[in-house]
Amino acid sequence: MTHEIAVIPGDGIGSEVIPAAIEVLEALEVDFEFTEAEAGDHLLEAGREPLPEATEALAAEADATLFGAAGETAADVIIPLRAAVDSFVNVRPARTYPGVDAVKSETDLVFLRENTEGVYAGHEDDLSENLSTLTRVVTDEAAERLAEYACEYAPEGFTIAHKANVMRKTDGRFRDAVARVAEENDVETDEVLIDALAMHLVLRPEEYDVIVTPNLAGDVLSDLAAGLVGGLGLLPSANVGPERALFEPVHGSAPDIAGEGIANPSATILSAAMLLDYLAEPEAAERVRTAVEATLEAGPRTPDLGGEGTTEDVTRAILSRL
Ligand code: NAI
Ligand code: MG
Repeated sequence: MTHEIAVIPGDGIGSEVIPAAIEVLEALEVDFEFTEAEAGDHLLEAGREPLPEATEALAAEADATLFGAAGETAADVIIPLRAAVDSFVNVRPARTYPGVDAVKSETDLVFLRENTEGVYAGHEDDLSENLSTLTRVVTDEAAERLAEYACEYAPEGFTIAHKANVMRKTDGRFRDAVARVAEENDVETDEVLIDALAMHLVLRPEEYDVIVTPNLAGDVLSDLAAGLVGGLGLLPSANVGPERALFEPVHGSAPDIAGEGIANPSATILSAAMLLDYLAEPEAAERVRTAVEATLEAGPRTPDLGGEGTTEDVTRAILSRL
C-alpha cells in the first residue's frame, strides 16, 4: 500500500529539516508518495496568502502530513492545518537520550494536549482602545475525544492537569469530562494543578508519565519539558484526528540559525517516526528511532547539543545507522 504524504516545509529551518526527514523515510522499505506544498512567511512576503487553499486541501486529503515550521505566520498556518486534519489531540513526547546533556536525565513524558479550543479557539476582541478580551471555550465533546484517545494511549493510567480551582466552569468541565471517560474505561487517573505541575516537572519529572492537558497549558509545559531534556531540536509531535494526522517538530522556524545548515534534524526525523507508527509501520518507526538514538549518543551532534556537526552530517549518520 502506498501512503500519500503531504509535505509542507514552511519557513526558515523548516526547509532544512524536512528534506532530512524525507531522505530518512525514502531509505525505508515503505511505499510513499510525497506531494510538496507551500505555506508560511515567504508567501506573505511575496504578496500571497500564508496558507494557500491548495495546501490546506492537500493536508485534508493526504494520509498524513509532515510539516516543518512557519515564522510569524505560524498561527495563520498551523491552526488551520491542524483543523484540516480534524486534529483533536497534540501528542508531544519529551524524553532524555544517552549522550545528550539534560537538566533532568530521568525525564520520559508524553503530553496529550487538547488541540482545538481553550484559549486558542480564536475568540479574541478589542472591546475599546484600552480593553481586550478573550473567550475560553471548553466543550464536553472535545474533552471526551481527548480522554478516549488518552485511555487507548495510556491504559495504565494518566495525569489530568487543570486549574479547576480557579477556572471552575471551563477547567472544571475539562477535568470532569476527562475523569468520567477514564472511569468508564477503567483507566486510573490522578490530578494536578497546572502551576504546581510546572514546579514538579522541574524538580521531579520522573514522577510523571502521560499528562492530559488543556490547550495552552500543554503548549507551555511541553516547551518546559523540552528545556529539561536538551532543547527544542529533540521534540517531535503528532496532531492526530479521527482519519488523518499531521506531524511536526515542536520548534519554530529558528530565524537565528536559519540558512546556516546547522539545525538539528532530530525533532523532525522523530516526528517522521511518529508518522510511521500512525501509518501502522511500527518496525520502520523503531528503526528510525534506534538510528536517531544511536546518533545522539555517538555523534555527530549539531551545535544546539554542543556539537560541531551540520544538519547534513547528522542526517548522513542517521541514514548510515538505518
Ligand atoms: P524557535 O523554536 O524557532 O527557536 C527557539 C530557539 O531554539 C532558537 O534559539 C532556535 O535556534 C532554537 N532551535 C529551535 N529548533 C532548533 C533546531 N531544530 N536545531 C537547533 N536549534 C533549534 O522559536 P522562536 O524563536 O520562539 O520562534 C521563531 C519563529 O518560529 C517565530 O516566527 C514563531 O512564530 C515561529 N514558530 C513557529 C512554530 C510552528 O510553526 N509550529 C512553533 C513555534 C514558533
Ligand atoms: Mg509552542
